[in-house]
Formats: sequence, C-alpha cells, structure tokens
Amino acid sequence: MNTKKILVAAAWPYVNGDIHIGHLAGYFIPADIFTRYSRLKGIDTVFVSGSDCHGTPITVEADKRGISAKELVNEYIPKVHEIINQYGISYSLFTSTITENHKKVTQDVFLNLFKNGYILKKKSLQYFSDTDNKFLPDRYVEGECPHCHSQGQRSDQCENCGRSLGFGELINPYSKLTKAPVTLKETEHYFIDYPKLEGQIKEYVLNHEGTWKDWVFKETIGFINEGLQERAITRDLDWGVEIPVNDLPEEERIEFADTKRFYVWFDAVIGYLSATIEYCNANGLDYRDYWNNKDAKHYYFMGQDNLTFHTIFWPGQLIGQNLNYNLPYFPSIVKFLNANGQKLSKSRGNIIDAKKVADHFGADLIRFYITSILPENKEGNWDWNDFKNSVNSELGGNIGNFIHRVLTFYKNKLNADKFDFEIDSELRNKIELAFTNVGDFLENGQFISALNEIKKLSTTGNQYFDYNKPWEKLKTDIPEAQRIIFNCIQLVNALRILINPFIPAASNKLSENLGLNILESEIDHDQFKFTKLSLAGITVVEQLQPLFKKIEDEHITAFNA
Ligand code: MF3
Ligand code: ZN
Repeated sequence: MNTKKILVAAAWPYVNGDIHIGHLAGYFIPADIFTRYSRLKGIDTVFVSGSDCHGTPITVEADKRGISAKELVNEYIPKVHEIINQYGISYSLFTSTITENHKKVTQDVFLNLFKNGYILKKKSLQYFSDTDNKFLPDRYVEGECPHCHSQGQRSDQCENCGRSLGFGELINPYSKLTKAPVTLKETEHYFIDYPKLEGQIKEYVLNHEGTWKDWVFKETIGFINEGLQERAITRDLDWGVEIPVNDLPEEERIEFADTKRFYVWFDAVIGYLSATIEYCNANGLDYRDYWNNKDAKHYYFMGQDNLTFHTIFWPGQLIGQNLNYNLPYFPSIVKFLNANGQKLSKSRGNIIDAKKVADHFGADLIRFYITSILPENKEGNWDWNDFKNSVNSELGGNIGNFIHRVLTFYKNKLNADKFDFEIDSELRNKIELAFTNVGDFLENGQFISALNEIKKLSTTGNQYFDYNKPWEKLKTDIPEAQRIIFNCIQLVNALRILINPFIPAASNKLSENLGLNILESEIDHDQFKFTKLSLAGITVVEQLQPLFKKIEDEHITAFNA
C-alpha cells in the first residue's frame, strides 16, 4: 500500500436490537482486521462508524415495544458500545446519527445538492392508510414484488431478489400493522436527480473494473445499466433529520415540511463524512486531509444488502457536492452468513448473539472462526461442530501448538539462553512471502485467503520442527539444536505480528509471554514485515500457558441444542 492515509468506513448498525454474528461478519470484524493491518503498516488510518438511529427500522420496533424511538435508541446505543469493547473493534470514533454535528452535515449535504441542481421537488403518490388517516412509511407496507413476484415483501426493498422498490411499485399493498389494503395519495417530497448523475456515477464505477470483487462490480454495473431513477430522499415521518426548508427560497419549499424528515438511507451514509468531521474536530485534525486528499483511500465494509447504497447512491450524493470528495475506493462487501444451515432470523430463533458467544469463548475465538467462514463470495455458514473443530485443530492444534512447543523447548531444554544465528534463508523467504500475501489479500477483501496464509506458515513451522528434531540434536549437537530453535522463534515472532489484526488478544498475550511490549502502531513505521528478533530482548514468562484452550463438546452443547 503506498497511500498516505486511509479511511475505514464500516456500516452503521440499526440500534433496534442486539448485535449478532451477522453484524460481526458483515462489517465489525473484517473492518477491524483491515484497520489493524493498515495501522501496523504505519498508515495513518481513521476508522469511523456509529449507530444508525433513524428510519422505520427504528420506529417499527419502538411502536411494537410501546416506547418512543428515542427511548429505543438510547437503550441500544450503549449495548453496541459494549460489543465494540468486548471484541476490541478499534474505531477511531463510533458515534451516532442523532448528534447535532450529524444533523448539520446532513443538512449541508442536502443544501449543496440543491445548490448544484441535483434536487427535484415533486408531488408523488405515497401509501396512505384511510383507517389511521396517515401516510405509511416503507416498512409498514407489504405486498407482492413486481419483479420476482414473491409475497410479503417490504415496499422499499424486496428481500427475495434484492431490488429496491419505489413508491407504488408493490402489487396489492397492505398495511403491515392492520393488514388492511392501503391506497396511494399525493404528497410532496424532495428527490435526488439520479438520471442527471448517472453518467458520472457510471464513469466512477467503470474505473474500478478489475479492482473491485467481480460480483460487486457486476451487481453495481448491472444496476446502473437498468437506468437510474429519481429517488425520494424525504419521508412522511416525524423521526429523522429535519429538512432545512427555511434555507431555501420560498417557492422551493415542499408543503408540510415539518411533518417530514430525511429518508434514513439519505442521512446514514452521510455519517461517514460527519463522523470524520466529528473525529477530526475533537483531535485537532482537518477532515479534508481524508476527504479531499487524493492520496487518501476509502475502504468500506458492509453486507450485500447495503451494496447499491454504497456503490451507487452514496457516490452520487458525494459527486453532487461538487467539492471533490473522495469516493469509495474499495467496497469490501460480504454475502449473508447463515447459522446451522438456516438464514439468521430472530423470529425463527436462529440467531447467535454476539455478546453471549464472546462471554463464553472469548472474542478471539469468535473473530478467528468468523474470519474463516466469512461469506466473501458466497453465503457462509456458522456450524457449532465446525467451530469446535476449526478452533481446536487450526488455532490450538496448529498455531497454538507450534508457538507452545517452541517456547517450552527454548525455556526448558535450552535454558532460554541468548544465542544468535543467521536465519535460514528458505524460512525467511517464506515468512516474507506470508507478510506480502496476507497484506495483498486483506487489501482485496480476501480475508479467508489471508488467514490461510497464516495457517500455512504455522504448518511450515510445525514441519520444520518435526523434520529437524531438535530434541535429538540436543543430545549430540547443542549449537544445532539452538540454531533450529532460533529459527523457530523467528517464526513465532512473525506469527505474533501476522495474527495481530485477526486475534489481537492472543497476539498481546504472546507478546506478554515473551516479555515484549504489545504491538502498538506508529505512523510511518511499517511493523507488518519480517524483522529479526534478538533473544537478548525477550524473557519467556515463568508460567507459560498454551495460548488457546481446547473446546470440549460440553462447551458447545448449550448452544448447539
Ligand atoms: N443500518 C443499515 C443496515 O443495518 C446500514 C447503514 S450503513 C450506513 O442495513 F452507513 F449507511 F449507515
Ligand atoms: Zn423481488
């Protein structure tokens, strides 16, 4: 990577329920691995996200619980922070969309779009409930998808075929609450003129052919080629960012603006910008160093249902600012993660709660397993037996075992002496290649392959140990036994650095076991590479314990029921 700065932008979770493994796989974990890697490379890396507090996902849940939207988000925001701490997600700032700053930035983005001629004011039809005498927001209306004809689809997006739907497109719409049919009634809203932005958006996307993941590129360009429509960015709703109509000339104001708010997908993505501004303001930095500097690259992390919002609509909002903002450089998008062969579903009870599993197994094991099943290019599946086997054989049996046998041998058989050798050149090449490959894979959204490189290096270590039999050399040729272990310790040190982005707690524990400082990133200091470790600088702890505990059947039975 030869960019000067990186912005890592992870999707913002709706704060309407508990965080589960779908959120972890979708963005928390991959975004954090990437950030930690980037920081170890010495790159100035700002990592932002926050709670997505607006829109009908919030109001529907609040209505169901009989509390206000505000009460609901205030209940869940602290819970997200708990998960972030528990999993060690290294955000520079995790904020929310209910801050004054976010409101101001959202309104500014809107006013710029307006000034630059990308906003239309239009009367259109919206679902209206005669029974309740009010307009019904997207998620309150269901019906048949006009594209794939599956039933019971939400009016804004079809879960079955993934297409986003406009007002009035749904066939036989009815109210989700009362099941009574709804009618369409005229209401006035602001729209973004996407047809006008289409050329610039398309050019931006085409520039990334071959660098984005194939399916991400294809899905994006396929969508654009169907032709972009004008999109309403306001809703008849009283929860969200207010529309700054008073900043517009009178004839440009929509009617009844005080009963309307910005659509949640208009404001949420603006969070990437507002959060950077909030972070920079609080730390004496200039957000333009990240947003206007052509040497700053933006990496986005999200699940596939967020794709068009980030590869088409958000770039459109940014282009329409005419402020030369950086557009998403790499959208690291994953498909769905299932559990036990079924879709993750709260109503069907098929949810794996992020807090519960980390309470039980520690966050590192979950980080490791989720990375190994990440749905990068196809759906992934969490399976409890696979979890147990993967942790026991790969983490414990391979990586943990290699580290433990080397360090105990060094300490118990070689007296932890401070010998020094030239590192075996073949081994050194393998270590250097592992660093390069892991980095390349992470920069291209290939987390499973990155992790496989590390497993491969550890396997190499175990084979080197077995093949060279230091326990035999000990009887006949002590310097040779020392040389073998010296090489193995160099490998252990490489693993300490390589695993750091993936399982930071284990890496820190290993640093401690060696009497080394834990890895701390430093701008312009690349630590993600081979460096020879001098034995004079380490002290193996007295009570050396294996890094990973074995998972027994009884540990998973409670979950596996
Ligand atoms: N809250 C959305 C979801 O869970 C994601 C929003 S990402 C954002 O699907 F950046 F736009 F906020
Ligand atoms: Zn459909």
